[in-house]
Amino acid sequence: MNVVHVDLGSRSYPIHIEQNGLAKLGPILKKLFSTNRIQTNHAVIVSDENVAGIYLTQVADQLELVHDKVDSVIVPAGEKTKSVAQLESLWQKLVELESDRKSTVYALGGGVVGDLAGFLAASFARGISFVQIPTSLLAQVDSSVGGKVGINLPAAKNIVGAFWQPECVVIDPNVLLTLEEREYVSGLAEVVKYGVIMDTPFFNYLENSIANIKAKDPSTLSHIIKRCCELKAAIVKADEHETSGRRAILNYGHTYGHAIESVFGYGRFTHGEAISIGMNCAARLAIQLGLAEQELLTRQTALLTELGLPVECPADKHVELNKAMKRDKKVQNGVLMLVLPIKIGHVELVPSPGETPILESLHCE
Ligand SMILES: NC(=O)c1ccc[n+]([C@@H]2O[C@H](COP(=O)([O-])OP(=O)(O)OC[C@H]3O[C@@H](n4cnc5c(N)ncnc54)[C@H](O)[C@@H]3O)[C@@H](O)[C@H]2O)c1
Repeated sequence: MNVVHVDLGSRSYPIHIEQNGLAKLGPILKKLFSTNRIQTNHAVIVSDENVAGIYLTQVADQLELVHDKVDSVIVPAGEKTKSVAQLESLWQKLVELESDRKSTVYALGGGVVGDLAGFLAASFARGISFVQIPTSLLAQVDSSVGGKVGINLPAAKNIVGAFWQPECVVIDPNVLLTLEEREYVSGLAEVVKYGVIMDTPFFNYLENSIANIKAKDPSTLSHIIKRCCELKAAIVKADEHETSGRRAILNYGHTYGHAIESVFGYGRFTHGEAISIGMNCAARLAIQLGLAEQELLTRQTALLTELGLPVECPADKHVELNKAMKRDKKVQNGVLMLVLPIKIGHVELVPSPGETPILESLHCE
């Protein structure tokens, strides 16, 4: 078993990464709760209909070893579930289930369930404990770590939320075998992101492991998930509440990516696909500005393409994309800040150079 520690003082927690980890959930939690003297007699598992159909029984059986009472609530799959209406219905459900401050919420699912169930735990009874059991690659390498939880409003994604750290994260890489291929490949965009923003050897490792990544080789997957969790844990430790700017580097490709998602509609590209295109636009801009060499873009494009990710921004709607980018939440005092790569393994926050270079960066040769 691999354990990564997220070091946040009194809010520290372990991330357990283990093949077949779901089958060992009970013993892992028993040990954690007794070490940390956490008293919790009641579990509420929140999962979506896809994930619950495959893993709910196994997880509930394991939680029976730890809690006197185990309940579950199943929500619809998909981004629309991160809504005020869904959160309100979950609050009501927790009351009906006689939940109290000794109840623990378990988020069993991808990033949607993790964000929603995490905010449920953060807000119910002024905050109760929660455990992340991420089942998509994106959730295992990114969203389950760091404590950002929340929901969407119709006008803005992730605009209502909190920083609420879990008691622990339990990751079973085997569950990725049931994840749809397109969702798996999308998660790989975030994996490549970590290499570009802060870890040259990891980027080299990814370049040399393409066949194993595509084949979902268990030891390759475990290594990748562990390294991404270590890198995210280091960033979160340095900037838990996104005040120093360090955490902003995780948004590499995201200013372009969010604009692509919103302008083309959330159905056309997955989040990871939009981020992949966004990272290439950001790298093109860095080269235009003389901040990076062409080799960076060549290597990044090759890796993303070989992993099955799109890298080209569709030729229409560039003006709309430019407008959407200006509405990005990384606008500071009226200036849009962009995360741009300087070399593989290093990025910097750079003020936007203005409309013309941004429009040029959206065009591929
Ligand atoms: N909190 C953060 O720091 C953070 C970071 C990045 C993204 N996010 C959020 O994460 C969300 C996206 O997460 P996602 O990509 O995991 O989407 P998702 O939760 O919608 O999961 C994708 C799909 O895969 C299915 N699925 C998940 N695991 C499965 C498995 N093992 N087997 C079969 N099907 C499975 C789900 O039911 C869903 O249909 C977005 O809402 C985004 O805002 C949060």
